[in-house]
Amino acid sequence: MSLIAKLEQIHKNARAAVADATSLESVDQVRVRFLGRKGEITAILRGLKDLSVKERKTIGGQANKIKSDLEMLLGQKKDELEGKQKSTTRIDHTLPGRPYYCGHKHIITQAMDEICGIFQRMGFEIADGPEIETDYYNFGALNFPEDHPARDEQDTFFVEGGLLLRTHTSPVQIREFEKRTPPVKILCPGRVFRNEAVNARSYCVFHQVEGFLVDTNVTFADMKGALLSFCYEYFGKDVKLRFRPSFFPFTEPSAEVDISCFLCGGKGCSVCKHEGWLEILGCGMIDPNVLACVNYDSEKYSGYAFGIGVERPALLRYRINDIRLLFENDIRFIRQFR
Ligand code: DAH
Repeated sequence: MSLIAKLEQIHKNARAAVADATSLESVDQVRVRFLGRKGEITAILRGLKDLSVKERKTIGGQANKIKSDLEMLLGQKKDELEGKQKSTTRIDHTLPGRPYYCGHKHIITQAMDEICGIFQRMGFEIADGPEIETDYYNFGALNFPEDHPARDEQDTFFVEGGLLLRTHTSPVQIREFEKRTPPVKILCPGRVFRNEAVNARSYCVFHQVEGFLVDTNVTFADMKGALLSFCYEYFGKDVKLRFRPSFFPFTEPSAEVDISCFLCGGKGCSVCKHEGWLEILGCGMIDPNVLACVNYDSEKYSGYAFGIGVERPALLRYRINDIRLLFENDIRFIRQFR
């Protein structure tokens, strides 16, 4: 038998012996029989010195391969018998890593953070309020008359026990006024609920950022200044503002603010419905009736308040044509806004 055939035979026997081993002792016996000081493979390696250069190379190479194969099998078998998991695959450390997707904030959270950041730099403090409210905080204290249509079941989700889901973030005004004395300068980002038909433009849940300030000598001009700075920072320096007279029960006078469409610059496009303007917020000087409700002296103090809708500008900015996409949380959609 040639030396190479003999090697093959030893290899075959060795593999079979490892496979047959049923205890750690028998594994060790196999190791001694083939790789020990007087082992069969060791003997061949020892005999290499008597071979020709050419033979030494082929036989030596082959014997070393068999030796490492056997060492691996013995190791595996040992792990197996010790109850460790059998590792059948070898790790290739040179492979590039698998990229893991890193989570990030939802587009709406990003928008709210950005809006809050701008007002925080103007000195507004952040406050929070409950999403389940009483009629008093959501309507009564905000000077909504008993028969105001906004209290209608059409718009409000009522909860058991006479409670309701807040329809706006304005109730936080009352809650904060009750806790503090002027000067008060607060911002409240949050979720609001309306019982409206769901379609591409409106959804039963959305977000607002409420801001309010009460102090001595606060004027409409202060409010305009704050809102102007906000819009320049959030929508860009070229944006124009339009204050339109409006009505809210809790402010007097009240206004709605439009900005020149940031997509067409006011020339008119499909997004602004060819009007050149987009409505972004409601605001006004806090009604003395509201101040009276929280025992603020309306002779001494005045204040302004505003409520910014979060979804609309975000939808327009990213040209998203269906508000429902913001709430479905399809990860393929969300991942686009990192
Ligand atoms: N709460 C109003 C709404 O949901 C928005 C609003 C308007 C808030 C005027 C205000 C304000 O603070 O002064 O439509």
